[in-house]
Amino acid sequence: MSGKLKIHVDQGKCQGHARCKALAPELFDLDEYGNAHEHGDGQVPEGLEDKAYLAQTNCPEFAIEVIEE
Ligand code: F3S
Repeated sequence: MSGKLKIHVDQGKCQGHARCKALAPELFDLDEYGNAHEHGDGQVPEGLEDKAYLAQTNCPEFAIEVIEE
């Protein structure tokens, strides 16, 4: 696998649907308002790449960025 993935949640777009958290709990944290934030520094651990893309495609607000580094 070439390159690592990083995720970022756009706080201007996230509306707290929490599908990301349901699909990839290792990659997202919800704040007290129910909005998602990337876990830690957003680095996607090896083996969780599919979950990162799954969360991205299932966010109704298109709030999740998956960045290839
Ligand atoms: Fe927000 Fe989308 Fe997750 S709206 S809580 S980033 S599914």
